[in-house]
Amino acid sequence: MPSINGKNVLVTGGAGFIGSHLCDELLAEGAAKVVCVDNFFLGKMDNLKTALKYNNFILYRDDARQFGVMQSVIEKEQIEVVFNMATIALNYSFFNPFDAYMVNVEIANTLLELLKVGAYRTLIHTSSSEAYGTARYSPMDENHPTDPTTPYAAGKAAADMMVHSFSKILDLDISIIRPFNNYGPRQNAEGPLAGIIPATAKRIKNGGRPIINGDGEQTRDFIYVKDTVRGLLLAYEKEESRGKIINLGSGKDMTMNSLLQGICDYMGYDGKWEHKEERISDVRNLCANIDRARNVLGFEPEISFETGIRKTLDWYMENEII
Ligand SMILES: NC(=O)c1ccc[n+]([C@@H]2O[C@H](COP(=O)([O-])OP(=O)(O)OC[C@H]3O[C@@H](n4cnc5c(N)ncnc54)[C@H](O)[C@@H]3O)[C@@H](O)[C@H]2O)c1
Repeated sequence: MPSINGKNVLVTGGAGFIGSHLCDELLAEGAAKVVCVDNFFLGKMDNLKTALKYNNFILYRDDARQFGVMQSVIEKEQIEVVFNMATIALNYSFFNPFDAYMVNVEIANTLLELLKVGAYRTLIHTSSSEAYGTARYSPMDENHPTDPTTPYAAGKAAADMMVHSFSKILDLDISIIRPFNNYGPRQNAEGPLAGIIPATAKRIKNGGRPIINGDGEQTRDFIYVKDTVRGLLLAYEKEESRGKIINLGSGKDMTMNSLLQGICDYMGYDGKWEHKEERISDVRNLCANIDRARNVLGFEPEISFETGIRKTLDWYMENEII
């Protein structure tokens, strides 16, 4: 069983929400070197405060789409494993649909070309539950059809198909992890690409009302970011995951009404909510079947929503982000 201990690892999008937690965990697990390539489209230096304390953490402010850039970083740093975490958040689909789609495909393309020529050994590629579109049955296993409803999701689904087919035809060392909705510290809290949890808490703190789109009965499967990071590491360690797509979720769904109520309870808010139109292209229901993650990775989510939301909002308060 391969271990991350002693390996030279590269994380694309390592200054982002999930990627920065992954960098911390890789360093804590004894990776020889953790190299982050992030163009800081949404990444933040603050997310790297812990990682930057390690001498073996190396940061490149660069574009992971660029073949030449990635080739020289991978060669120079003698990278063995790549975790592909870079993307531009779903809501970008509404501002720049072409780029929201292409960024996912182009980064995957670059990483595949480099894997094909043996520049590094293993790719752990990150997909998204959004690739499925709304649930036709629930919980959704990995055989559920993909039917993306946004350019972001289409880019994720297209990248997955490319990565999956390369792994089969060229027998490349690749696992594809498909996380459901992540939450936790460091999720972006600013502007139109903010996560719903920090954005709602911030509105309440600033005297505004929580906003709900549509009837609020749409569901998501929320997984705490540290659980996702553990699943990603397991995907590297368990070679049985190679050539497979594997869901990572809590296995439980929650309505957006319940999510907002949880935030209101934490913030001590019992006022009115602002109701807006249902967002175009919003997926109606998502809930993960995590049997494959259990069987192949030995994965079990550890953080309950009650604990996770408290840890998350405590962090935003302590860091004065909300
Ligand atoms: N957050 C979620 O709920 C969720 C759910 C399912 C899947 N995912 C997937 O997990 C991964 C990480 O998501 P996240 O929530 O941490 O997103 P994020 O936006 O917080 O982080 C993505 C990072 O990628 C960087 N980036 C964007 N374009 C880049 C480029 N061309 N070159 C280098 N870096 C670039 C951004 O600056 C950012 O730091 C993504 O693949 C995403 O699709 C996330």
